[in-house]
Amino acid sequence: MASKFFHPISFKFLIFILLAPIGHAKRSIPSDINSSSFDFIKKLKGCHKGNNTNEIHELKTYLERFGYLKYQNKTHATDDDFDDILESAIKTYQKNYHIKPSGIVDDETISQMTTPRCGVPDIVNGINYMQPSGDKHSSSSNIHIVSHYSFFPGNPKWPSTKTYLTYRFLSNVPTYAIPPAVSAFQKWDAATHFSFGQVQTNQISDLVIAFHSRDHGDGAPFDGRGGILAHAFSPTNGRFHYDADERWAVGSVPGSFDLETIAIHEIGHLLGLGHSSVPQASMYPSIGPGEIKNLHPDDIEGIRVLYNR
Ligand SMILES: *[C@@H]1O[C@H](CO)[C@@H](O)[C@H](O)[C@H]1NC(C)=O
Ligand SMILES: *[C@@H]1O[C@H](CO)[C@@H](O)[C@H](O)[C@H]1NC(C)=O
Ligand SMILES: *[C@@H]1O[C@H](CO)[C@@H](O)[C@H](O)[C@H]1NC(C)=O
Ligand SMILES: [Zn+2]
Ligand SMILES: [Zn+2]
Repeated sequence: MASKFFHPISFKFLIFILLAPIGHAKRSIPSDINSSSFDFIKKLKGCHKGNNTNEIHELKTYLERFGYLKYQNKTHATDDDFDDILESAIKTYQKNYHIKPSGIVDDETISQMTTPRCGVPDIVNGINYMQPSGDKHSSSSNIHIVSHYSFFPGNPKWPSTKTYLTYRFLSNVPTYAIPPAVSAFQKWDAATHFSFGQVQTNQISDLVIAFHSRDHGDGAPFDGRGGILAHAFSPTNGRFHYDADERWAVGSVPGSFDLETIAIHEIGHLLGLGHSSVPQASMYPSIGPGEIKNLHPDDIEGIRVLYNR
C-alpha cells in the first residue's frame, strides 16, 4: 500500500516543490555543457544565518527535495531569508555527510552538496535514514556498531517467499547500459538470498529499468546533466530510472558515471534499502565522476537485517 508511493515524499508535495520554482523562473540553457543544476550552491559560499542572497531560495528547494527541510509557511519556503529552519537543515545535512555542523555554507559543504547524487531523499517523514537510530542495530549495545544502512519508512520489502525477482529493460535503455546492470544484479544475487532473472522487454517483470530525461511522469523529474543521476522506488514498486542526460560510461572514465556503480545503488533501493552514511557503502547518496563502487558489507548487512536472514 504505502510501498506504491514514490519513497518518502508524497506525490502532491513533490509536485509542489519541484514545479513551483520552475514556474516563475525559467532557467536559461547553460552555455557550459558541464554545468549542473547544483552549481548555484557555489554562489552561496560563506553564507550563514541572517544572509539574504538571491540563491538562498534555491538552497531551500534543494534541501527540501532531499528531505532536510519542510516549511509550514510556504512564503518562507520560497524566500531568500537564511532563517533558523534553514540553518538547522544545513546542520543536519552536515552531520549526515560527516562535515562539522556549523550551519554555515562552507567549502566542504559546497563540495558535498554539488557532488552528483541519487534523487531519493535522505530524510523521509522526519526519519533521517542516515543517522543510526537506537533499535535499528543489534541488541549488543556494548559493541561498537559501524553499520549505517537504513530502510524506507515502514520497512517496505518483498514478501519472504519472493526471493526470485525478474527484471527487464525498456527499449529506451541503450544497449551499452545493459551488461553493467546485469552485472550489478549478479553481484546482489551472489551476496544476498535474492536471485534475479532477465526477461524480454515486452514481458511482465518485478523490476523495470528505464532511461528518462527531465519530467518523465513519476513526480520526480530529472535535471539535465549532473545533479541527480538516477532514482528508484521502494518495494514492491520495482521502477529504476537512469537520467538519460548524464555522461554514462562502463568503468572508471573521468567526467562520466559508471553505469554498474549506479545500478548497484539503485537495486539496493528496489530491495528496500535507504541511504547509508558510510561513504564507502554503495548506498551512500552521492558519487563523483569516474568513481567506482562495489557492494560493501554495510549494504549486505542491511538486506540481511531487513529480511531477517
Ligand atoms: C552574509 O552576511 C554578512 C554579514 O552578516 C556579509 O558580510 C556577507 O557578505 C554576506 N554573504 C553573502 C554571500 O551575501
Ligand atoms: C507566513 O510568513 C509571512 C512572512 O513572515 C507572514 O506575513 C504570513 O502571515 C505567514 N503566514 C502564515 C499562514 O503564517
Ligand atoms: C566537460 O567535461 C569533460 C569531462 O570532464 C571534459 O572532457 C570537457 O573538456 C569539459 N568541457 C567543457 C566545455 O568544459
Ligand atoms: Zn539512492
Ligand atoms: Zn523516474
